[in-house]
Amino acid sequence: MTYNNIVLETKEAVAYVTINRPKQLNALNKETIEELSQVFTSIEENKELRVVILTGSGDKAFVAGADIKEFAGFSVEEGKLLSAEGHQKLFNLVENLSKPVIAAVNGFALGGGLELAMASHIRIASNNAKLGLPEVSLGVIPGYGGTQRLTQLVGKGKAFEMITTAGMISAEDAEKWGLVNNVVSEEDLIATCEKIASKIVRNSPKAIGSAIISINAQYREGVDGFVTEITEFGKCFGTADFKEGTSAFMEKRKPTFTGE
Ligand code: CAA
Repeated sequence: MTYNNIVLETKEAVAYVTINRPKQLNALNKETIEELSQVFTSIEENKELRVVILTGSGDKAFVAGADIKEFAGFSVEEGKLLSAEGHQKLFNLVENLSKPVIAAVNGFALGGGLELAMASHIRIASNNAKLGLPEVSLGVIPGYGGTQRLTQLVGKGKAFEMITTAGMISAEDAEKWGLVNNVVSEEDLIATCEKIASKIVRNSPKAIGSAIISINAQYREGVDGFVTEITEFGKCFGTADFKEGTSAFMEKRKPTFTGE
C-alpha cells in the first residue's frame, strides 16, 4: 500500500513509520491522520512486526503540530469533531497498540506532534529537538490528548507551565523533566531506537501486549490497574510464549517466541 504522507518500511520485525510532509514540517492534516491510522492498524494486524519506530521526514521536525491552515476556519462543532476523531483514530490507537511504539523525536515536536510522541510508549530525542504545546498562543488548547498525557509524564506543575506559557523546551530539559527517555546526537537517533527495538523483539509479544494493557490501565477512568495486572498476569499462563519462555529458561537456551 502506498500513502501520500507516510513512508512505511519494514526490516525484519521492525516497522519504520515516517511522516513525510517535510515542507509543512510534517504537520498533521486530516489525510495524514487517516493514513497514520491505517498504517498503525496494518502494523497491529501483521504478526511479523513487533515494534515500531516513528519519526518525521527531514532534519527539522518530528511533527510541528496539527495543520493550522486546515482548521483555521472551523466552527465549535468542527473543532470538537477534529479532536474527537484524532483521539479515536490515531492517538488512542497508538497508545493502545499491542506493540511498543518508539518515537524518534528528530526536531520540532509541537502541539499535535508532541501529543503523538506522548501517545507513543518510548521517546528518544535528538539534541536539536524542541518540544512544546503552543496551542494557547493560537487561541486553542492541546486537543490530541496533550492536557492529559503531558500531566501524566511531567506532573501538574510542569504541565501548567508548558501549556500556559506555550513555550518550547530543549531536548535536555525534556529529559530532565521525564518527557523523553534519552537524548542522543542526530546521527545516533535511529540507531539508538534500533538498539531498544532489538531488545524488545527478543521478548514475548504476548507478554509485551499484556504489559502495555496493564500500564495503560492506571490511566483509565474507572479501571483498577492492579486488577488489570492480575487478569493479564493470569492470561500469560495460557500462552505458548509463556511455555516457551519458561521451558527455554529451564533448558538453558534462548527462547523462540511466536506471539501465540
Ligand atoms: N500547521 C500548518 N503548517 C505548518 C505548521 C502547522 N502546525 N507548522 C509549520 N507549518 C508550515 C509553515 O506554515 C510553513 O509553510 P509555508 O512555507 O507554506 O508558509 C512551513 O511549514 C515551514 O514553517 P516555518 O516557515 O514557520 O518554519 P520556521 O523554521 O520559521 O518555524 C516553527 C518553525 C517554529 C515550528 C513554526 O513553523 C511554527 O511555529 N509552527 C506552528 C507550531 C504550532 O503552533 N503547533 C501547534 C499546532 S495546533 C495543534 O497541534 C492543535 C492540537 O493539539 C490538535
